[in-house]
Amino acid sequence: MGKQSNYVSRQPDENGIIAWSDEDNAVWHDLVERQLKHIQGKACDEYMHGLELLDLPQDRVPQLHEVNEVLQSTTGWQVAQVPALIPFDEFFRLLANKQFPVATFIRTREEFDYLQEPDIFHEIFGHCPLLTNPAFAHFTHQYGKLGLNATPKERVYLARLYWFTVEFGLLKTADGLRIYGGGILSSPGETEYAINSDKPERKPLVPLDALRTPYRIDIMQPIYYTIGSTEELFEIADLDIMALVREAMELGLFEPKFPPKPKTDAA
Ligand SMILES: [Fe+2]
Repeated sequence: MGKQSNYVSRQPDENGIIAWSDEDNAVWHDLVERQLKHIQGKACDEYMHGLELLDLPQDRVPQLHEVNEVLQSTTGWQVAQVPALIPFDEFFRLLANKQFPVATFIRTREEFDYLQEPDIFHEIFGHCPLLTNPAFAHFTHQYGKLGLNATPKERVYLARLYWFTVEFGLLKTADGLRIYGGGILSSPGETEYAINSDKPERKPLVPLDALRTPYRIDIMQPIYYTIGSTEELFEIADLDIMALVREAMELGLFEPKFPPKPKTDAA
């Protein structure tokens, strides 16, 4: 949700069908094929189960109604077609209505490995499997409702909790570290790094700490927060998160564990 995007969402026809180009479908195929290899033994069981339920096509970009049928029958969520970038108000309003925004464009091959804007591969392959999981779905819904009623400053704090769970969360299971964050699961490089590198710090998630931890969207994360199981997301969702946000605002941010972002003229 940056300021600008060079991408434009493809518009659905009157039946909600999007006419993806052959190149779009080929990019989807190559992304899925590659990432399926990378996530083996690294994605959490809940994610793998959701992926099985979704049964995504590999040879073409899925249509949103196909994803909706599965989400509807598992957690009652839906995906909603949106432009490449949407205002925060709209983002929270959708989540509060159990609608997960999906910008209907797919990255170009020039940005095959990494792009800052969330494309349909990130949203569907990265997030939708977990949206079939009741705890994850409940947490995301709760986050949307809180965000909708929050002030702009509170939203910036809230966004950090989302970042360190929905986007970059790890599970510490009896079998070892597993990924549930969609930002990691849609990135081959970070899938490997988050699990196997000894560079990042990994700490048990303390919601107040996550709210106070700065992040950058354009680098591999220097810190990940772990939970013991996705069930913990139910407990976190039921905390008085806005009281924690106010506490975090009073206490202020932790020192960043990354260098400042280089300034560019194009900001
Ligand atoms: Fe995301």
